[in-house]
Amino acid sequence: MSQLRFDDRVVVITGAGNGLGKSHALEFARRGARVVINDLGGSASGDGFNRSAADQVVSEISAHGGEAVANHDSVTYGDRIIECALDNFGRIDVVINNAGILRDKAFHNMTEEDWDLVYNVHVKGAFKLSHAAWPHLREQSYGRLIFTTSAAGIYGNFGQANYAMAKLGLHGLAQTLAIEGKKHNILVNTIAPIAASRLTENILPGPLLKLLKPELVTPLVVKLCHDSHQDSAGLYEVGAGWVGALRWQRTLGHGFPVTAPLTAEQIEEKWSVITDFTHANHPENGPQALAAIMTNLGHG
Ligand SMILES: NC(=O)c1ccc[n+]([C@@H]2O[C@H](COP(=O)([O-])OP(=O)(O)OC[C@H]3O[C@@H](n4cnc5c(N)ncnc54)[C@H](O)[C@@H]3O)[C@@H](O)[C@H]2O)c1
Repeated sequence: MSQLRFDDRVVVITGAGNGLGKSHALEFARRGARVVINDLGGSASGDGFNRSAADQVVSEISAHGGEAVANHDSVTYGDRIIECALDNFGRIDVVINNAGILRDKAFHNMTEEDWDLVYNVHVKGAFKLSHAAWPHLREQSYGRLIFTTSAAGIYGNFGQANYAMAKLGLHGLAQTLAIEGKKHNILVNTIAPIAASRLTENILPGPLLKLLKPELVTPLVVKLCHDSHQDSAGLYEVGAGWVGALRWQRTLGHGFPVTAPLTAEQIEEKWSVITDFTHANHPENGPQALAAIMTNLGHG
C-alpha cells in the first residue's frame, strides 16, 4: 500500500500546540505537508496566552526536516490564521478545526460567560477559520475540512451543556458545508475523538489515559484529508485504535390522517409504534427525511 502523502499541500490546524492537534500536525508534516500550527497557548479552560505551545511544535517539525509556521491568534480571529497560511505558503488545502476548551459545570451553576466562551472558541472560531478559507478552496476547486465534535454533543454529558451545544453545532455546520462544498470538490467530515489530553486528564482514569494516545486518532484525520478520499459529510467516532461511522436513525413512525384534527390522545395511543426502532431507517439528507411526511400528505 502506498503512503498517503501531502507533498505540495498546505494544512492549517487550530489548537495544534497540544494533544490531538499536535499529533495531527506532526503526522501531516511527516507526510510532506507544510503546516500552520495555530495555538493561543491558554489553559484548558481558556485563560491566559503563551506563544511557546505553537513554537515548540514548529521546532519539533523543523528538527525532523519538516516545514511549519506558528500562528498565535485565537481561533476567533480565524481570518488572521488563513492570512498567515497564505503569506507563508501561498495556498490552503486542508483546514482542521480542532482548538477547544472546557468550562464544565452543572447547568444550574453555569454562567453566561462559560456559555459564551465555549461557544466562541468552538463554534465561532470554526466559523471564522472555515469562512476565511472557503473562497480560496472554492476558487481552486479543492479542499478538505475536518470538524472536531464530541460524544458529549452527540449523546449529552452531565456538566457539559455549553460544550455539548457547541460540539453538536459543529456537526450541523459540517453537514451544511459538505452540501455547499460538494460541487467545488470540498469535502467536509467530522470526528468525535477520545484521547488522553489536558481536556481528559482529570476526567478519565490514569490507566485508561495511557492507552488513549492521540496518535491513535490522527490516522483517521490523515485519511479523511487525503486527495484520494472521496466521502464527505461523515461522522466518525474514533479512539484507542477503533474507528466507526455514525448516522441518524429514525423509526418508521406512524402517519395519522391529515383530513382530521390530530390529538395528543391519538399520539399517546400509537406511542409504542412511534418509538419502535425495530425497523428503523436512516435518512441521509433533508429530502429523504421529508419523504415520510410528504407520503402522509398523499404526495409520496
Ligand atoms: N481529548 C478528547 O478525548 C476529546 C474528546 C472529544 C473532543 N475533543 C476535542 O478535540 C479537540 C482537541 O482537544 P484536546 O483533547 O487535544 O485538548 P488540548 O487542550 O490538549 O488541545 C487543545 C488546544 O487548543 C488550544 N486552544 C484553545 N483555545 C484556543 C483558541 N481560542 N485559539 C487557538 N487555540 C486554542 C489550546 O491552547 C490547546 O493547545 C477539542 O476541540 C476538543 O473539544 C477531545
